[in-house]
Amino acid sequence: MFVKILPPEVRSKIAAGEVIESPADVVKELVENSLDAKATQIEVEISKGGKRFILVRDNGTGIHPEDFSKVILEGATSKIESEKDLLNLSSYGFRGEALHSIASVSRMILKSRYFQENFGLKMLVKGGEVKGVEKVGMPVGTEVEVKDLFFNLPARRKFLKREDTERNRITELLKEYALVNPNVGFSLYSNAREILLLKPSDLRTRVESLFEEKFEVFEEEKEFLKVKVFLRRNVKQGKYYVFINSRPIASRNIKEFLKKVLGYKTLGVIFIELPPFLIDFNVHPKKREVRFVKERKVLSLLKEALSSKEYALPDYLSQDVPKYEDSFRVIGQINDTIILAQRGDYLYFFDQHLISERHNYEKLKDRPDADQIACKSALKAGEPLSEEDMKRLIEVWKNLENPHVCPHGRPIYWRIHLKDIYEKLGRSY
Ligand SMILES: Nc1ncnc2c1ncn2[C@@H]1O[C@H](COP(=O)(O)OP(=O)(O)OP(=O)(O)O)[C@@H](O)[C@H]1O
Ligand SMILES: [Mg+2]
Repeated sequence: MFVKILPPEVRSKIAAGEVIESPADVVKELVENSLDAKATQIEVEISKGGKRFILVRDNGTGIHPEDFSKVILEGATSKIESEKDLLNLSSYGFRGEALHSIASVSRMILKSRYFQENFGLKMLVKGGEVKGVEKVGMPVGTEVEVKDLFFNLPARRKFLKREDTERNRITELLKEYALVNPNVGFSLYSNAREILLLKPSDLRTRVESLFEEKFEVFEEEKEFLKVKVFLRRNVKQGKYYVFINSRPIASRNIKEFLKKVLGYKTLGVIFIELPPFLIDFNVHPKKREVRFVKERKVLSLLKEALSSKEYALPDYLSQDVPKYEDSFRVIGQINDTIILAQRGDYLYFFDQHLISERHNYEKLKDRPDADQIACKSALKAGEPLSEEDMKRLIEVWKNLENPHVCPHGRPIYWRIHLKDIYEKLGRSY
């Protein structure tokens, strides 16, 4: 007798709570909808970190007039039809939940013009209740305005963070979607101030313009897994952006794994592609976590791909150092442990033990205990080396399949650009 069936208006709010907890969640859902509608231009405006106002405008296909009033209903989606479609997702959306959730916790204005129509439709919704639908003149595409998020749920509103925190979340989120959709132009304005302005471009240009840095690029395929990697090494604070089949992924597991394989002080942008039936995005309401159907197999293929021959193309073949400077000048040994050498514009610090360990490991690869034997039989730290020994060891390093990390994931070397040293000394390079 204590059990009651919740009335629909309460139920809708509970469901909303799962997907929409912050302004960034609103932006995420709206931007995903725009991308699913094949937009090539997405404009976002916010005020008060999105707490007061969010607008997302796109030039996608628009919503068909017959669907227009349905899209805010619970479970209304055009993207899947049956459960089995979940195994073959090619769109961001599939729950038919987002617009419904957003509409029920805000004052929303939805405007859309379908690409085969010469007018648009506009709908006003307040706390889930439709206040009216009318025709409007507008360009093809969709525009959603979300005002006063959680105005009808004061307890939730209280949990929103400070304006700048919410704004940063939105900025980060848009960067992620911009990284994985380089052909789409993005803009973000906060309180009428420009925060992001990205023209459609190719992937490399998008990555480099977002971080204002040059990156090493590497692509590899292993069985059913494809990976494209952008790396910037030796940054102060490492960070990985991970995408699986075009979705930004927050998974700690994968990020820890990448840090171990590619280094902790690396800025990495990693695009992984897998056949859709091997991934389940339907485990998390916000689709930020994934489950691999064959997790161990996927991770081992990923590891193989990331430590393969092509990836091992050392940095000196990348743009900033000319090829002819392929030779090292050995400067000396530090604490009988670290070899110091110069090549081109870089000073290298090699861990002598790790070069030797990696070398052994690569020869023993097929044995299950390879890493243990490799370590035991390797040259130790604390061993004095002649200049000839050091030169030989660097030659060994150059021929490694993966010259970057030891079998346990520690970096084999660290290098610094002479420019950085000159800078510290107040000299220009
Ligand atoms: N910007 C848009 N352009 C064109 N159609 C849109 C747009 N936004 C929403 N729609 C239509 O409205 C439907 C409902 O959107 P909603 O985001 O609620 O659900 P979904 O995207 O299908 O699934 P999910 O809840 O997982 O996001 C979509 O399936 C789509 O048909
Ligand atoms: Mg959606």
